[in-house]
Amino acid sequence: MLILGAEDIHQILDGAEKNVLETVRRAYVLHDRGHTALPHSVFLRFPHDQRNRIIGLPAYLGDETPVAGVKWIASFPGNLAAGLPRASAAIIMNSMATGAPEAFLEGSVISARRTAASAALAAATLTARKPDTGVSLVGCGVINFEVLSYLRAALPELATVTLFDLDRDRARAFAERCTARWPDLTVALADTAEEALAAQRLVSLATTASAPHLTTDACRPGTLVLHLSLRDLTVDSILAGVNVVDDADHVCRESTSLHLTEQRTGDRAFIQASIGSVLADPAPYRRAEDRVTVFSPFGLGVLDLAVAEFVRRTADTLTLGTRVPGFLPVSG
Ligand SMILES: NC(=O)c1ccc[n+]([C@@H]2O[C@H](COP(=O)([O-])OP(=O)(O)OC[C@H]3O[C@@H](n4cnc5c(N)ncnc54)[C@H](O)[C@@H]3O)[C@@H](O)[C@H]2O)c1
Repeated sequence: MLILGAEDIHQILDGAEKNVLETVRRAYVLHDRGHTALPHSVFLRFPHDQRNRIIGLPAYLGDETPVAGVKWIASFPGNLAAGLPRASAAIIMNSMATGAPEAFLEGSVISARRTAASAALAAATLTARKPDTGVSLVGCGVINFEVLSYLRAALPELATVTLFDLDRDRARAFAERCTARWPDLTVALADTAEEALAAQRLVSLATTASAPHLTTDACRPGTLVLHLSLRDLTVDSILAGVNVVDDADHVCRESTSLHLTEQRTGDRAFIQASIGSVLADPAPYRRAEDRVTVFSPFGLGVLDLAVAEFVRRTADTLTLGTRVPGFLPVSG
């Protein structure tokens, strides 16, 4: 058994944005071509507790070196008040020869970066006539910081960021981190979510809202909304937008805004495309200039496994991690 902790994973992934973007792109295309097995995520919730959950995401990705395993990720939003991250996770990778578990990885860093890579890939793929030079981030937490980092890697012209968080102190602290990391970036704080939506034609929503609280009315036509937290937008805004998802079967569950929209309309005709099909199409995609485009990725386990495999291969090359030879029982 190979164990890779957060320090090992940072050593491998810090500065590896291009590799992660390519790994995620490839996983989406393989998923589009049917080279994956992806059961629905399992949501473990607790009696009398609406806030906390642990999600299991099993996945198989058929590639030159196929991978299978599971991410087990907890979300405890109250952790923030104690100065701890909301999400924590582990990934188990299984051998495709014997089925045996053979690697155990810290999962929250991989999870945040694959999410950010999927958002940045969508932004670089669902392009506007004029390149996006600014982004508004609604929700100033772990995910949107990674999103900004990946957008900087994927969109070379991105030079300004507008921030909004319900907690103004978190928005201010986030702004300071941005300036320290990217001194050339222009950083502004918005007083309301609507002001942030109107400020840029690229928007990333990564809040912990559990029910719709926001419309896209304030967005300028031609805006792309990266709807990562999945439960922010009202049904009317989903219906008014051009909707791109990662997988319709996955995203129309668990009271996401798209699930609520399907419940209202009775079908999924409001979903126009999957990101995998757009990436697999050699013709460039141009987003509608007269409407708002909404990218809602459920977050597929194959992305975690694909990035975990990249991490494991790199760890082998760099001889990182801890090997526990006696983890599995000795046969015979
Ligand atoms: N789709 C995916 O693949 C994917 C993957 C990972 C995480 N996520 C989602 O991204 C979201 C953010 O995760 P995180 O780790 O950054 O969380 P976090 O707790 O670190 O940060 C969330 C921030 O949102 C703010 N916030 C809460 N409600 C708000 C609102 N209504 N308006 C503005 N700000 C608000 C909070 O104050 C906090 O600063 C979560 O909902 C998580 O489930 C999605």
